[in-house]
Amino acid sequence: MTQGRTRARTRAPIVLGIESSCDETGAGIVSGGRLLAHAVASSMDEHARFGGVVPEIAARAHLHAFGPVVRAALDEAGLRLSDLDAVAVTTGPGLSGALQVGLAGAKSLAYAAGVPLYGVHHLAGHVAADTLAHGPLPDPCLVLIVSGGHTSLLLVRDLVREPLAHLGDTVDDAAGECFDKAARVLGLPYPGGPAIDRAARGGNPCAVAFPRPLTGARADPYAFSFSGLKTAAARWAEGYRLRGDALPLADGAASLQEAVADVLTRKALAACREFGVRTLVVVGGVAANSRVRALAEERCAAAGVALRVPPLTLCTDNGAMIAAVGDLLVRAGAAPAPPDLSVDPSAPLEYAALHPAAVPYARSA
Ligand code: KG4
Ligand code: ZN
Repeated sequence: MTQGRTRARTRAPIVLGIESSCDETGAGIVSGGRLLAHAVASSMDEHARFGGVVPEIAARAHLHAFGPVVRAALDEAGLRLSDLDAVAVTTGPGLSGALQVGLAGAKSLAYAAGVPLYGVHHLAGHVAADTLAHGPLPDPCLVLIVSGGHTSLLLVRDLVREPLAHLGDTVDDAAGECFDKAARVLGLPYPGGPAIDRAARGGNPCAVAFPRPLTGARADPYAFSFSGLKTAAARWAEGYRLRGDALPLADGAASLQEAVADVLTRKALAACREFGVRTLVVVGGVAANSRVRALAEERCAAAGVALRVPPLTLCTDNGAMIAAVGDLLVRAGAAPAPPDLSVDPSAPLEYAALHPAAVPYARSA
C-alpha cells in the first residue's frame, strides 16, 4: 500500500493533449517528455473539393472524431482515463467552432478524470513537438515556425516559463498559405504544400527565377512576405495558358519550393549568426517540405549550427505536441486554467499557455 502510494507520487505525470484548431483532430499522451501515444483523424478529404478548409465541416468532423481519437490514444498507451494527471488543449489560434469542440471535449475529460486543464497556444505546440523526438530544447534556440497560417522566427529560452521573443513574422501570407494558394493556380489539389512537394520531384529548381521577397539589403532582415511569390507563380502559369503551351509543372513547383526554402533558411541562419545561437529548430506543417528540410540541413552544416526538425508525423497538426506543452507546464508548476477557459481564435503568440498567470513567477519577473 505504502509502496503503491510512493510509486504513484514519484512517477512522472501523464498528460493528455487535444488538438482541434483546423482540420486535424489529434489526441496525444506524454509523460516526463516521453511520447506514449498519439492518434490523428483528418477531415482534409472533406475539404478538398472546396479548395480549402470549410470551418463548419471541420467543426462537425471534430465532433465525430473526438471520442474515437482519444480512445485510440489511450488504447495505444495502454492507459485509462483515470490514469491521467492533466489534460492540455489548444485554445487558439484557429477556427472558432473547431477550437470550441476540442475545448468542450477536453473540459469534459478533465472534469470526468478530476484532473487540471491547461489551455495551450497551437504554435507553442508545434515548437514542443520537436522535444518529443530530440529531447529538451537548448536555451537559447532559434525557432522557425512555418505552418499554414503562420511564419515566425522566434528566439526561445524556456518555452513555458518565458515570453516568446519574435524576431520576425510574415507581413502577409504564411509560407504554407503560399503553397496552398499557388497549388490552386497550378491546378494541384488541396493541401497544396504536399502536392507541390510531390510535383517538384525531378523538376529544375533554377528553371524559373521566382523572387526572394524581403531579402534586399534595406529589407527587414527577419520579416517574411509570401503573397508576391504566390502572385508570381500565378502570372507564370497564366503566361503558359495564354500561349496555349503545356505547363512545365515540375520545373515551376521545384522553383517555387526553392524560393520559399531559400528565403526561410537564409533568414533563419542570418538570425542564428546575429544572435550567436547554435541551434535552429524548424517546425510546423511546412517543415515537412523535402526541400526546406534539405536546404536547412545543408546551410546549418555549413554554418556549424545544429538543426532540429521533428519527424514528419509530428510536423503537421497533432495532439502529441499539445500534450508536450501540457507536460512542460505541469512539470514547471504552472497554475491550471480557470473553469471558464474559452477559445481565442486569433491569439497572438506571447506565451505557451493561453490563460493568465499560468507560470506567475515567470510573468512577474
Ligand atoms: O502546421 P500545419 O499542419 O497546420 C497549421 O497550423 O496551419 O500546416 C499546414 C500547412 C499547409 O499549408 C500545408 O500545405 C503545409 O503545411 N504542408 C507542406 C507540406 N506538408 C504540409 N508544405 C510544403 N511541403 C510539404 N510537404
Ligand atoms: Zn499547425
